[in-house]
Amino acid sequence: MNNLVSIKQLQPEQMIALVKRAAEMKKDGIPRLDEQYYISNLFFEPSTRTKTSFEMAERRLGLEVVPFDAGFSSALKGETLYDTVKTLEAIGLDALVIRHEEDGYYEKIIGKTNVTIINGGDGSGQHPSQSLLDLFTIYEQFGSFEGLNVLIAGDVSHSRVARSNADALTRLGANVHFLCPPEWKGEFEAIHDWDEMIETCDVVMLLRVQHERHDEEMAYTKEEYHERFGLTVERERQLKEDAIIMHPAPVNRGVEIASELIESPKSRIFTQVENGVYVRAAIIEMLLHGRNGR
Ligand code: CP
Repeated sequence: MNNLVSIKQLQPEQMIALVKRAAEMKKDGIPRLDEQYYISNLFFEPSTRTKTSFEMAERRLGLEVVPFDAGFSSALKGETLYDTVKTLEAIGLDALVIRHEEDGYYEKIIGKTNVTIINGGDGSGQHPSQSLLDLFTIYEQFGSFEGLNVLIAGDVSHSRVARSNADALTRLGANVHFLCPPEWKGEFEAIHDWDEMIETCDVVMLLRVQHERHDEEMAYTKEEYHERFGLTVERERQLKEDAIIMHPAPVNRGVEIASELIESPKSRIFTQVENGVYVRAAIIEMLLHGRNGR
C-alpha cells in the first residue's frame, strides 16, 4: 500500500494490525526508520491535533520534516493542489500528509504521483488516521469491537469522523447508532432522543457542531442544543459503569458535551490525542517501510 486516503482501503485485519502496532509503540517506544525519508504536512484547513501529532510521529520515526505553510504558499496565487503535489515531488519529498476542504481531493492526485499521500481529512469525506486512533482507544478499553454499542452523536452529516468510524466499526462487528437533530441526519439513520440508548451504549462518541460547514444559522441556541442533543451531566450518570466518552475534538464546551465531563473518569478525549501519535507513527511506518528500496 502506497497511500492511505480512506479507511475503506483497509480490511478489518489490516485495521487491527495497525491498532496492535500502535499499542506496541505506545508500550516500547517509536523506533526510527532505517532509511532517510522527507515528509511535509500540507494543511489547507485549520488543525491542532492532526498536524502536530503527525509531526511528532514523523520526528520520532526520524523523518526529515520539510515545513509547508499553506497560508503562505503559491496556493494563494492560484496554484492547484495537483500542481503543488507535483512540485513537491520534483523537489524530492517522499510523502505528504494533506488536509483539504474539498471532499475526495485525492482522487485527482492518486495514480499521477509517486509521492505517498496520507489523508489528514478531506471536507466532509474521510479522516482515516482519526478513525484508527479512535479504534485504538476503544480497543484499549474493551479488547475487541464485536457487539459493542457505539453511539455517534452530533453533527453527523458534516462529519468525516462519523463517516470513517461508522464504516470501520461496522466492519469490525460493532453496532453503530447515530443521534442528531432531525435536519442534520444526512444519509444516516438517526435517533433524536438520548433516552433510546443512553443506558445501553458502551461508547458515546460526540461530534463538534461544524458551523463552518453549515449554510444557515443553527436553529438552536447553544443552551437548547446542549439540553436536547448534548451529553449533559445528568445523562452521563445514566451511562453503564464501563462506558467511555470520546470526542475527536476540538470541543465546543457546554454545547455537545458539558464542560465538566471533558476530563471526567469516563472521558478518553485526551487519551485519543495521545494515541494519535502512535497510530500515525504506525501508519507512516507501514507506508514508508522499504518504499524507496534503499
Ligand atoms: N480531530 C481533529 O482532526 O482535530 P484537528 O482539527 O485539531 O486536527
